[in-house]
Amino acid sequence: MSQYDVIIIGAGPGGYVSAIRCAQLGLKTAIVEGRETLGGTCLNVGCIPSKALLHATHMLHEAEHNFAGMGLKGKSPSVDWNQMKSYKQDVVDQNTGGVEFLMKKNKIDWLKGWASIPAAGKVTVGDTTYETKNIVIASGSVPSSLPGVEVDEKVVVTSTGALELGKVPKKMVVIGAGVIGLELGSVYQRLGSEVTVVEYMDAITPGMDKDVQRTFKRILEKQGIKFIMGAAVQGVDTTKTKAKVKYALKKAPDTEEVLDADVVLVATGRKPYAEGLGIDALGVKMTERGQIAVDAHWATNVPGIYAIGDVIEGPMLAHKAEDEGMAVADVLAGNHGHVNYGVIPGVVYTTPEVATVGQTEDALKAAGHKVKVGKFSFMGNARAKAIGQADGFVKLIADAETDRVLGAAIIGPAAGDMIHEICVGMEFGASAQDIALTCHAHPTYSEAVREAALACGDGPIHA
Ligand code: NAI
Repeated sequence: MSQYDVIIIGAGPGGYVSAIRCAQLGLKTAIVEGRETLGGTCLNVGCIPSKALLHATHMLHEAEHNFAGMGLKGKSPSVDWNQMKSYKQDVVDQNTGGVEFLMKKNKIDWLKGWASIPAAGKVTVGDTTYETKNIVIASGSVPSSLPGVEVDEKVVVTSTGALELGKVPKKMVVIGAGVIGLELGSVYQRLGSEVTVVEYMDAITPGMDKDVQRTFKRILEKQGIKFIMGAAVQGVDTTKTKAKVKYALKKAPDTEEVLDADVVLVATGRKPYAEGLGIDALGVKMTERGQIAVDAHWATNVPGIYAIGDVIEGPMLAHKAEDEGMAVADVLAGNHGHVNYGVIPGVVYTTPEVATVGQTEDALKAAGHKVKVGKFSFMGNARAKAIGQADGFVKLIADAETDRVLGAAIIGPAAGDMIHEICVGMEFGASAQDIALTCHAHPTYSEAVREAALACGDGPIHA
C-alpha cells in the first residue's frame, strides 16, 4: 500500500494542473484517471478537438469566401471529413501525450482506472487501495440530459458525438444557443450543413453583454446559421438516420412545431459528475444544484477531501478549474491559495471570437452602480480591416467616479487573446486611463482596446 500526500481524482485541466503544482510544492502526488488518455473532457472531447475543427473549417470558409477577393484564385478546397477528423485526433494526441510527459517529468503516479473513496484518507482504484493524507476530487462534468430527448451519439448527439460524426449532415438542429451550440454549429455550417439553432431564451449566449448578444447573432446569421428563439424543445423522435425535433414557441405554448434533421446536437448545458466515488456514503455535502459543496479553501465538509473544477460551483471553464487546482495545491502545501472569481475570462471561439471578463453593463446598472462605457468598433481598426473582420467592437466598462475598470466585452478578431490585457489591468486595479495611456503597437487589434479605454475619457481617436 502506497502512502501519498495527495491523490487527485480526475486528470482534466483542474486535476492535472493541480497534480503538477502539488508535485512542484514537494508533495508526493498521484492522479487517478480511468480514460485511456490524460487531459479529461477538455483535451479529449472538448476544448481542444473543437478548436482543431474550428480552425480547419475557418480555413475552408476563408478559401471559399475571401481568397478570390485577396487575389488568391483557383479551385476551392474540397472537404475530406475523415482526414479532418484525423488531423483533429492528431492535435488531441499531441496534447494528451504532453500531459502524460508532464506527469512523468514531475514524478506523479498515474493510477489507471476509476476511483472510489472508501473512507477519508483512502482511494481505491481497481483492486488496490491507496493511503493518502488528502484527496482532491476533480471529476468534472458531463452533458446534462433533456427530458424527451434520448442521446444515441449518432443521430442525437452531445458535443462528444458531434466531434465524431460519420459524415457531414445535410441538416443539423442544435438545441441551445450557448457556447457549445454556437461553436459546433459554426463548424458544421462552414462544412456545408444547414444549421438551425433552437433556443429557449430570447437572446443567444445567456448572461452575456446585450450589445454583444445582438451583434454576435447578426454576424452568425449572416454566416448562414438560422435561429429560432424563444422556443422550448419538448422532445426528439428518431429513426435510424433522421430526427424530428418538436418544440413550442413561448408565445404559442400549445402549438407544436417540428423541425427535420439528420443530426441533432443537444447543447443545453452540463452537470457535475461524481458518479462512483461513493461520496454519498461518506456524507459529503452537496449544493442544491448537485455540485460538491466546498468552503473558501476548496475543502468539503469531510476533513481531508477537497474538490475543484466543474464538480463544484462556478462557471464550467477549464481555466477556472486550473486556477482552483493550483490554489488548492497551495492550501495543501500550507501556503495561501487564492482565486479571484471576479476576473475569470469567458471566450467563445467562433469567428469572430467573443470574449468577456468582469461584470456586464446591465448587471452593474441594475445594481445601481454608476458606470461609463467606452465602446470602439473594429471598423476604426486598420488591422481588422486588413483581414476582413472589422465587424465587432470592444466595450470597456469603468466606474463613473474612480475610472476603475469593472468589466469588458470584445467581439472581433483574436478577442480571446486580447481580453487578457484587460484581465491583467483588472487584477492590478487599473483605471480606463491606465489602459489609454499605455502605448499599443500599430497596427494591432489591441489598439481597439486602447481606443475603448480612450472612449471612457476624452474620446477615441479613430471614431
Ligand atoms: P450553456 O449553458 O452555455 O447553454 C445552454 C443553452 O441551452 C442556454 O442558452 C439555454 O437557454 C438553452 N436551453 C436549455 N434547455 C433548452 C430547451 N429545452 N430548448 C431550447 N433551449 C434550451 O451550455 P453549453 O453550451 O451546453 O455548454 C456547457 C458548459 O460548457 C458551459 O458551462 C460552457 O461555459 C462550457 N463550455 C465552454 C466553452 C468555452 O469556454 N469556449 C466551450 C464549450 C463549453
